[in-house]
Amino acid sequence: MRSRGIGVFDSGIGGLSVLRALREEMPLEQFVYVADAGYAPYGERDDDHVLSRAHAITQYLLKQHCIKVLVVACNTATAAAIRELRHAYPQLPIVGIEPALKPAAAMSKTRRVGVMATRGTLNSEKFRLLLQTLQGTATFVLQPCDGLAYAIEQGDTFKIEATSERCTEAMGSFGSKFGEIDTLVLGCTHYPFIADQLRQLVGPEVAFLEGGAPVARQTRRLLSEHAALVADTAARSGAMIPQPTFFSTGVVDELRLAVLRWMGLDVQVHSVQIATTC
Ligand code: DGL
Repeated sequence: MRSRGIGVFDSGIGGLSVLRALREEMPLEQFVYVADAGYAPYGERDDDHVLSRAHAITQYLLKQHCIKVLVVACNTATAAAIRELRHAYPQLPIVGIEPALKPAAAMSKTRRVGVMATRGTLNSEKFRLLLQTLQGTATFVLQPCDGLAYAIEQGDTFKIEATSERCTEAMGSFGSKFGEIDTLVLGCTHYPFIADQLRQLVGPEVAFLEGGAPVARQTRRLLSEHAALVADTAARSGAMIPQPTFFSTGVVDELRLAVLRWMGLDVQVHSVQIATTC
């Protein structure tokens, strides 16, 4: 089998926030990105939908692109499917993403942490277990943000503003005083793209936490353990940085524009049909 790449997927453009971190961490790796925009959003759908999409995309990435590792760049899909994926593909190293509650609790001085995520993530068993392990470390104010990922996907500025406002208001007050939320977890990979708008709403004192960088470090560690990391000494000596390949099951232009805007890459996005298999 020829040299293989790293498969990354999300319901849409959100995973680009993770892909950015992955490329920073491992510039010489070849990435294949799938945006499952034709079947999005995941956050307000049932687990079976997300699970069957995660299976179908993993199979596609394995069969068509011979990936050596899979990064599930979506909190909702990680919560719904990562256990089953690891069980179904035991030979494939798989990295998922989850809301950064632990570092948030460690960092919060007011011990009040806001968590913005999809309904799917917050209602999942995986998230419930994570919360349980952190009992007593901080108070977590959980906010399901229905419609927000989809509004970001569509670039619907009006809806982004209205939904962010509604969600942050519902969480209470933000700031560094006792009883205020001083740390905000962006528990959906779409949300880092509206960090500026959120900053306007919660003020300058609040720390934001997202999961891209830890996922990138974990992926690098896994590849290293499997002796499958492309040596990055060449990056320093000016070797060619490969461009990721992009696929979408939805509107290719939406992903193309997002890649240009958020990653500064002018690429061709390929349309792909990935049928749901189970
Ligand atoms: N980006 C996904 C996540 O991190 C969710 C987006 C969606 O609802 O499809 O949870």
